[in-house]
Amino acid sequence: MKILVIHGPNLDLLGQREIDIYGKFTLAEIDAALQKLGQELKVEVKAVQLAGEGEICKQIGAAGQEYAAIIINPAAYTHYSVAIRDAVAGCQIPVIEVHISNIYAREEFRHKSVIAPVAVGQVSGFGMNSYLLGLRAAVDLLKK
Ligand code: DQA
Repeated sequence: MKILVIHGPNLDLLGQREIDIYGKFTLAEIDAALQKLGQELKVEVKAVQLAGEGEICKQIGAAGQEYAAIIINPAAYTHYSVAIRDAVAGCQIPVIEVHISNIYAREEFRHKSVIAPVAVGQVSGFGMNSYLLGLRAAVDLLKK
């Protein structure tokens, strides 16, 4: 079983970017932790970082042919991308939304996720663990 992880824009800058909010860990460290947990849970994890909205939509659209679920941190697109929301809504496989920070404890414009209503669920505010909790949730869901 294969699971696709999509990191949205600016997440490649983790470790240097607003470390008071996002922490000191890097994207490579998140991906390594996901690989390790994937091995434990006996699933194959493929992670990609994409800055463009169109590229993200294409990946979501094609994912059903290869992957059983998607874990996505849409980053800033979370709050306004109808294109990504439509891609998620039209996707044949479950999509789990994750955020490093607690988006509800930040600026008001971050309180709204246009993705959440079409995702299976959302994990927000647990730092790197949001991704790992998202992966566990995806695997549990697929086993049912
Ligand atoms: C984020 C939260 C978003 O509001 C922000 O634009 C990001 C990262 C998070 O993981 O906490 O880039 O998705």
